[in-house]
Amino acid sequence: MEDRKLRELLDDMTLEEKVDQLVQLNGSFFGKADVLTGPDAKFHMKEGRPLRTGSVLGEHGAARLKALQEKMTAAQPHHIPALFMADVIHGYKTAFPVPIALGSSFNPALAERVSAAAAREAAAAGLHVTFSPMADLVHDSRWGRCMESTGEDPWLNARMAEAMVRGFQGDDIALKGRLASCVKHFAAYGAVQAGRDYNVTELSEHTLFEDYLVSYRAAVKAGVRLVMTAFNTIDRRPCTTSRRLLRDILRDDMGFEGVVISDYSAIEETISHGTSLDHRDAARQAMEAGCDIDMMSPCYLHHVEDLIREGVLPESLLDEAVLRVLQLKNDLGLFENPCKDASEEDEQALHFCEAHQALSREAAEETTVLLKNEGILPLSEGQKIVVAGSLAEDPGMTGSWAVFADTSRTVTLRMALEELYPDADLSFFASDDISDVLLAEAAKADAVILALGENQKKTGESMSLSMIELPDNQKRLFDAVHAVNPHTVTVLFGGRPLAVPGIAEKTEALVEAWLPGSCGCYALADILFGRVNPSGRLSMSLPWCTGQLPISYAAFQTGRPKPAANGFVPFTSNYMDVPNTPLYPFGYGLSYGRCVYSPVELDTDTLTKGGSIRASITVTNEGSIPLREAVQLYIRDLHASVVRPVRQLKGVNKVTLAPGETQVVTFVIEEPMLRFYDADMHFVSEPGRFTVWVGHDSLTDNSADFTLE
Ligand code: GLC
Repeated sequence: MEDRKLRELLDDMTLEEKVDQLVQLNGSFFGKADVLTGPDAKFHMKEGRPLRTGSVLGEHGAARLKALQEKMTAAQPHHIPALFMADVIHGYKTAFPVPIALGSSFNPALAERVSAAAAREAAAAGLHVTFSPMADLVHDSRWGRCMESTGEDPWLNARMAEAMVRGFQGDDIALKGRLASCVKHFAAYGAVQAGRDYNVTELSEHTLFEDYLVSYRAAVKAGVRLVMTAFNTIDRRPCTTSRRLLRDILRDDMGFEGVVISDYSAIEETISHGTSLDHRDAARQAMEAGCDIDMMSPCYLHHVEDLIREGVLPESLLDEAVLRVLQLKNDLGLFENPCKDASEEDEQALHFCEAHQALSREAAEETTVLLKNEGILPLSEGQKIVVAGSLAEDPGMTGSWAVFADTSRTVTLRMALEELYPDADLSFFASDDISDVLLAEAAKADAVILALGENQKKTGESMSLSMIELPDNQKRLFDAVHAVNPHTVTVLFGGRPLAVPGIAEKTEALVEAWLPGSCGCYALADILFGRVNPSGRLSMSLPWCTGQLPISYAAFQTGRPKPAANGFVPFTSNYMDVPNTPLYPFGYGLSYGRCVYSPVELDTDTLTKGGSIRASITVTNEGSIPLREAVQLYIRDLHASVVRPVRQLKGVNKVTLAPGETQVVTFVIEEPMLRFYDADMHFVSEPGRFTVWVGHDSLTDNSADFTLE
């Protein structure tokens, strides 16, 4: 439909029809012949009205959605098609590694490929919109939703978010196999106090703009079509009814012109926050703030019409929201093709297809992080290997948001090891309990793999932890095995960095496998046996203990920085009982073999506005197998009008090196990279001295200094 006709359509719609476009219901409202009961009763909807709502949450499947779309467009006075939206976060039928793992690939191009594959599968199932990327910065792994984030760094999260938007949307969301993408949760949901889900946030303006908004801004710049509001507050205002956030920042400052959708019942929850009196007040505030769609609350449904009829809200406010929804439907081509790509035939061809299984495996090759290796890895098929821990046979490897995944086909670590290494002498004890048989076998083994951590039922939305240390039974299991055989390889599964004091120091190898997706355990097995060289780098610091949280490499020096000496240094900023630095920092990860960096060289040590500096190093693979190396660029502003982090990631270049190969890696440094929010919140750079590092991780000391004039 020509865009100009959308205005004509809008002008011909009744108030009720317009409000219906701003209501999103889940599947429980459809297919129920009887009057709604239970929690849905609060919606008190007249018979037949659900079929006229503008969008549906969570329904999927080509046949199901074709039938539903036919009923909904028929029920619509203007036959406006419905939007079908769902959480295709990191895969649909084929689950890819969870986003915290994807971030650890340090490879935005991989995230784009994964998102494009997810879009193909979901579009064939009749979906139009995905609630992804989740771009919330995370510094506190007590929060269960770290799993959905790409990590602790603003720059990396921004690259990942824009890559995922490109992957889902392509160049035109109307094209086959593409979805409209919704970045979430706007904003700073990852900053919930104490890592407790749905809690408030307390952020300075500088931290909000400099750290938390960067990734959403990148997604908007990449053309994301929807933004979802967050459950939390910012500056004591619920995000969903914050005009400053949704109009001043999102629309005026970031230039977002798409659809804003609330999170699930978030408009209604402003009553619980204590800033809305009732559903009517919540509806008014959310509309005034610029929240277009009310997901699963009765506020808009029951009150927007009256608010307009009574002149409390101008109809223009309703019209602008409805027009954005109609524009999205039109840009998806739904007026001409209401079912878009829904196709049972394509579902058969695409869902869990060989290519996507292979991509799920390939992705995990790059997301798995080798954190420690005292020579025990890689294993060999001639060894006697015992595998202990329930997670070695747990199919919960796809993540709690992989709600559509075909989990009956998830490959577990045991399945992968037995299939790929049939000649290996493997024995499995798929329990976290200690047994005499296990210990007897372990004592005779050349190596014992312990599969520890959390499965997908223990990490995700609402799954906050007060302690991120492993459960006692897993710690006891490790100690008992280690007592009879010190040659242990500890594999950590989970959706967040977990603390492993008492294990990290003793185990001879430590691998962060995250939740690797449908076929990711194949990659894990290949890394354990050395067929694949691990290249993952931590997207989020792995702390010594809960007490270090929240933690990030991009910390501030303070007025009393702790000297480099080990142990507690009184009257400086440090703890008496643990180091300030995490067990393993952001950007850290090992590979097999050796990758040698030359000292970083600058083509000039003076940067002028409009000019650039080229920072170069050579990397050489001194190992005997191919190596993927995520070369990282960090910069520090040594003096400014406000405090600045001790270093910040400003570039990544992931290269592949054949054995013995040397490559030159060059980063271009330009003045905009050095900008920050000054004391008056102006986004500026300031002349002065800077240090640049180019290296393997956020600890690298491979540095050089330059001056910005
Ligand atoms: C959930 C989540 C959000 C998700 C939405 C729809 O509560 O917070 O990430 O997209 O509801 O399922």
